[in-house]
Amino acid sequence: MKKIPIKTKPNLNVDFAGIKLKNPVLTASGTFGYGEEFAEFVDLNKLGGVIVKGISLEPIKGNPPPRIWETPSGMLNAIGLENPGVEVFLTEKLPYLRQFDTAVIVNIFGYSLDEYIKVVERLEGVRGISGIEVNISCPNVKAGGMAFGTDINATSELLSTIRKATTLPIIAKLSPNVTDITEFAKAARDAGCNGLSLINTLLGMAIDIRCMKPRIANCTGGLSGPAIRPVAVRMVWQAAKAVTLPIIGMGGIMTGEDALEFIVAGASAIAVGTANFVNPRATIDILDGMEKFLIEQGVGNIQDLIGKVSVR
Ligand SMILES: Cc1cc2nc3c(=O)[nH]c(=O)nc-3n(C[C@H](O)[C@H](O)[C@H](O)COP(=O)(O)O)c2cc1C
Repeated sequence: MKKIPIKTKPNLNVDFAGIKLKNPVLTASGTFGYGEEFAEFVDLNKLGGVIVKGISLEPIKGNPPPRIWETPSGMLNAIGLENPGVEVFLTEKLPYLRQFDTAVIVNIFGYSLDEYIKVVERLEGVRGISGIEVNISCPNVKAGGMAFGTDINATSELLSTIRKATTLPIIAKLSPNVTDITEFAKAARDAGCNGLSLINTLLGMAIDIRCMKPRIANCTGGLSGPAIRPVAVRMVWQAAKAVTLPIIGMGGIMTGEDALEFIVAGASAIAVGTANFVNPRATIDILDGMEKFLIEQGVGNIQDLIGKVSVR
């Protein structure tokens, strides 16, 4: 059927778990710093929101180099969650971001339940924070280093305890390194989370066969970029069928059409990660690409596309 292009700009507004987004384009945590690093390239007022780099209770130096290795259609990283800690974030990073008309979502993590809770409590009541994204792909030191996000009981306990510690919307950022993503989506829902983010990076490894050493000092790292997009789209689709929570879809989004693939799979918003390393203006180019597609296809409202994949 021939599509009739629309003459006015499409409505891109999204209400994500009560967080008002002027459009569905967000930045993926850890790939856009605290916004200021990209402000030379991107007018932050144009973004739906900024999800900041992961914040912990205390400052973390991160892993020794090399921390990044480029792979076919993606990259491996083991930054080691380097960050200045929650106090420096609140005094030095958030005031800058607060100047802009964009939602600020704070990505947090900890190495124990107690650490997560302390960060969440410190964010409570702070002006200019729209929501908390909880990175559950973090080793639980007290449970032998197994990631919270790959153990269903640890995920449930972590998220339900965080839920009780804050009034802010909580978005659970799920790990893709699990057999059945829907179990974890349901655990997040049952814990009282308000939304989901998926996916985080997939665990990978690359080896230099000349010196017989891993390419990154940490041996293994997180794989991101276009290589993981089909896995991410599949998981967003499965999670959207399993729960009614709104989803932020991410994983290898490079263009507006890639972003819309996630929306049609069931995401209400999307986040741009690795693309920022290739093109610092990627968020804006992706937003423009989404808008262009909607105009060409005669779609007046982005909401009309959410979860509209037709499966026979
Ligand atoms: C260099 C780098 C650092 C990242 N740091 C974080 C982080 O601090 N917290 C987090 O939840 N995810 C982090 N991620 C994961 C991304 O937010 C995103 O989920 C993942 O990279 C998939 O999206 P992409 O393929 O568009 O990059 C990081 C990814 C990269 C590449």
